[in-house]
Amino acid sequence: MEYHVKDLSLAQEGKSRIEWAEKDMPVLRSIRESFSREKPLKGIRISACLHVTTETANLVITLKEGGAEVYLTASNPLSTQDDVASALVKYYQVPVFAIKGEDTETYYTHLHQVIKEEPHIVIDDGADLISTLHKDYPELSMKVLGGMEETTTGVIRLKAMARQGVLKFPIIAVNDAYTKHMFDNRYGTGQSTIDAIMRATNRLIAGSNFVVAGYGWCGKGVAQRAKGMGATVIVTEVDPIKALEAKMDGFLVMPMMEAAKLGDFFVTVTGNTSVIREEHFKVMKDGAIISNAGHFNVEIDILALERMSVKKREIRKFVEEYELLDGRRIYLLAQGRLVNLASAEGHPASVMDMSFANQALSARYILENHDKLQKNVYKVPDHIDRQIAELKLRSMGVHIDSLTQEQVTYLSSWEVGT
Ligand code: NAI
Repeated sequence: MEYHVKDLSLAQEGKSRIEWAEKDMPVLRSIRESFSREKPLKGIRISACLHVTTETANLVITLKEGGAEVYLTASNPLSTQDDVASALVKYYQVPVFAIKGEDTETYYTHLHQVIKEEPHIVIDDGADLISTLHKDYPELSMKVLGGMEETTTGVIRLKAMARQGVLKFPIIAVNDAYTKHMFDNRYGTGQSTIDAIMRATNRLIAGSNFVVAGYGWCGKGVAQRAKGMGATVIVTEVDPIKALEAKMDGFLVMPMMEAAKLGDFFVTVTGNTSVIREEHFKVMKDGAIISNAGHFNVEIDILALERMSVKKREIRKFVEEYELLDGRRIYLLAQGRLVNLASAEGHPASVMDMSFANQALSARYILENHDKLQKNVYKVPDHIDRQIAELKLRSMGVHIDSLTQEQVTYLSSWEVGT
């Protein structure tokens, strides 16, 4: 079996951590049980480009249990957990190509390795796998039955491909399922981003000015959690509706130019480029700590920071100190890459349980329905989304009401008013 991981001697630690995550993934476990009985993915090759974490390992094991052959590469050069990658190779016979800290060339070599396996289904997080497949392997992309995309940025890229008419197979936008973005993006990114900043810096968040750029699903989570830690939270936005929501949720709202002067911590979560740039670095306080939790490392203009700096050193792990001409120091976390995966462990298993339940059930859905789907980007079918919410509630011991017959009739009628 071909693979490329850092060190197989880490495998035992990885296996224990995979088992620890599994305990908090009841929905995925129940899908694994049915996959194990029914083998819906028998004979199917799946190439996946995902953050190589304990939760991803549980998804891969579930897909294998369903009968698939799975090939795994990383969706970010800094997000791989090397012990997990090794455990997947050693204990679960999964070909993994991922090493934390790999350079861009190795990152792409790894992508090519999983593409060459001629997948029937692809799973992506950020659309690097699917875009590379389309650009460099047009003949292989014609043979793919369908794919799934995990994150907001990837869905945006794939919708652009569909609009331009270049997409070669249907995509299920897992990110757009309610049971994904409302929980994973909000509570997952919220908790793990704060966790990462604390692990990287060991600085006190209480009493600080904490700037969050972008008040989408991720931004709401980060802002809520920073507030809970005692920070004064400042939100920057470009969308007036989101800005209004942030204001009414109790946050300060202002342009980045103003926020830059006040912030002790900065987190970008916009999915956009150059959100913090030269004009902002010029007015930041000495000691400002900047980080990104958006998918790509484009949200902070690092090249501008490099140009403006006279000195640079790694002062702590994943904390780079940039000294500017006037003596101010700005600290960049995790090279501007997804801080929650680089400096911490990514989202807790309990939210990934739902995200990856969507992935597993979407794989089955694609196999059963690919001939009816166009070369377009689709939502996860509502019945799958609801089924996952029901299973999650059940696993938490939470019961809810159901509509009475009278209520069903009332809600589908128009005659009764005041
Ligand atoms: P979203 O679309 O819900 O929110 C993005 C927000 O950023 C929007 O409200 C938009 O108006 C705002 N925005 C855009 N340009 C801006 C600018 N120049 N300044 C201020 N605000 C701006 O997207 P979501 O789901 O919150 O995702 C954000 C990013 O985080 C994406 O790149 C996504 O792929 C990534 N992501 C990262 C995760 C992680 O583990 N770190 C988990 C899930 C998503």
